Amino acid sequence: MAVEATTLIIFGGTGDLARRKLLPALFQLGCKGRLPDNLRIVGFARQQRSDDGYRDLMGESVREFGSLAPHADEWTDFAKNLFYLPGDLDVPGDYANLQSRLKELEEGQEPANRLFYLSVAPRFFEAAIANLGSSGLAGEPGLGRIEHGWRRAVIEKPFGRDLDSARTLNDAVGRVFDESQVYRIDHYLGKETVQNLLVFRFSNTIFEPLWNRNYVDNIQITAAEEVSVEDRAGYYDNSGVVRDMVQNHLLQLLTMVAMEPPNAMDANSLRNHKIEVLRAIRRWEPADATQNTVLGQYKGYLEERGVASGSSTPTFAALRLYVDNWRWQGVPFYLRTGKSMAEKVTEIVIQFKRPPHMMFSVADADDLSPNSLALCLQPDEGVHLRFGVKIPDQGMIMDSKDMSFHYDSAFKDQDIPEAYERLLQDALEGDASLFIRSDHIEQAWRIVEHLLENQSGVSNPQPEQYDPGSWGPESSDRLLAENGHRWLGVCGLDQEAHA
Ligand SMILES: NC(=O)c1ccc[n+]([C@@H]2O[C@H](COP(=O)([O-])OP(=O)(O)OC[C@H]3O[C@@H](n4cnc5c(N)ncnc54)[C@H](OP(=O)(O)O)[C@@H]3O)[C@@H](O)[C@H]2O)c1
Repeated sequence: MAVEATTLIIFGGTGDLARRKLLPALFQLGCKGRLPDNLRIVGFARQQRSDDGYRDLMGESVREFGSLAPHADEWTDFAKNLFYLPGDLDVPGDYANLQSRLKELEEGQEPANRLFYLSVAPRFFEAAIANLGSSGLAGEPGLGRIEHGWRRAVIEKPFGRDLDSARTLNDAVGRVFDESQVYRIDHYLGKETVQNLLVFRFSNTIFEPLWNRNYVDNIQITAAEEVSVEDRAGYYDNSGVVRDMVQNHLLQLLTMVAMEPPNAMDANSLRNHKIEVLRAIRRWEPADATQNTVLGQYKGYLEERGVASGSSTPTFAALRLYVDNWRWQGVPFYLRTGKSMAEKVTEIVIQFKRPPHMMFSVADADDLSPNSLALCLQPDEGVHLRFGVKIPDQGMIMDSKDMSFHYDSAFKDQDIPEAYERLLQDALEGDASLFIRSDHIEQAWRIVEHLLENQSGVSNPQPEQYDPGSWGPESSDRLLAENGHRWLGVCGLDQEAHA
């Protein structure tokens, strides 16, 4: 009987992502017994290396970035299935070499499945996909599972620089692969805490009846980084916060908070419901867009090495969005993200409406926070529910307190796995739920288009300056104040109270 084999080909197999994330994640999956039987991994890049040289390099990477030491025995078995082929993605003949090498490795183990992982700079995506098609490596176009085994492609982010380039890339991909074969990555979706958003929302009945415009006052999504652009200034200056964080990560979080409950966790149900949210996001006319967005740049950014002189690239963005549907009509969704901010934190805060009538006094009017539910994605993964309580021995005076759940104390002995573990496993198993469909990518670019115009200086030549270590420019606070709101700080606590 034929033995089915699977080959994972990593284009850019010696790069930073492969060394820091992909190989450590694959090794970890191997140690957990979650890789397919007969899996081979073939690294592909231009530098000359032997199979053994590649095994050594990856061994060092797993030691440095993963957890090799406790699994030294497993490494020997794992490394036997690592191979390397030098080649240039721009040279069509090198795809023919790859085809021959794969046939040699897979001999006697057909049907052989192949997963092509494009872990290379985005400028290679289009040509590499076209070459996979013309060389025959991708198999018959339009067939998810060809008679010789399935063919799939994982495409790293960023997928396009704007709507036009994303469309062009989608078209190029569509000429070679069927959509069901394509796995566009946003590694955020592989994070446990991001997936927990779905479990939290759709496995608990107590919150769902409140999860709408009747009870929710506003929703805040923050992804703040303490670090500056550091040694990525050259890349970052070309990209900026909107491409780096808003178009992908923040909009993903928004869709998960706002989506309707799907009937199943399959890729299409989930992705159909997410795109419904994106389609319902109100599109601003240019004049309104400026009223509803704030772009900032931290002081000192222009002095960073690699940043163009007088650059108008924003390092901070705050947005007020509305989801025009039955559930969310009129509820503002505030999104903010930036570099060089006061703290590293990613969280979603659902702020509920105030009681219609307040009978009790409060010790301090500033402490009268309305109920809020904070879903903390990092660094302190957990959930905080804030409610009013009576202060003991002080009449009927009330205060607001938190009820908290923390992953690290609730699941003490379990490590939270790296996002790439889950995503690689899913791609190998053919589950595209946590990957991004072509229509989602394009819709997300449409939503941020006006911000990209601003970025290139069309209507907002210079973003507002903010102090490193702060929560961004003052206009970001004004954006909320206009609606009588204010940013709630780390895990539901008031920002100032927290500081
Ligand atoms: N690094 C991260 O943490 C991270 C996070 C999220 C997303 N990503 C995305 O992942 C992708 C890879 O990023 P990276 O940081 O790993 O980049 P990188 O460190 O620059 O690695 C690029 C890889 O591509 C190979 N390469 C370059 N030109 C090639 C060519 N013409 N033909 C064949 N191979 C070629 C390089 O090896 P040779 O020079 O020897 O050919 C190297 O193995 C990018 O799309 C990036 O946006 C990276």
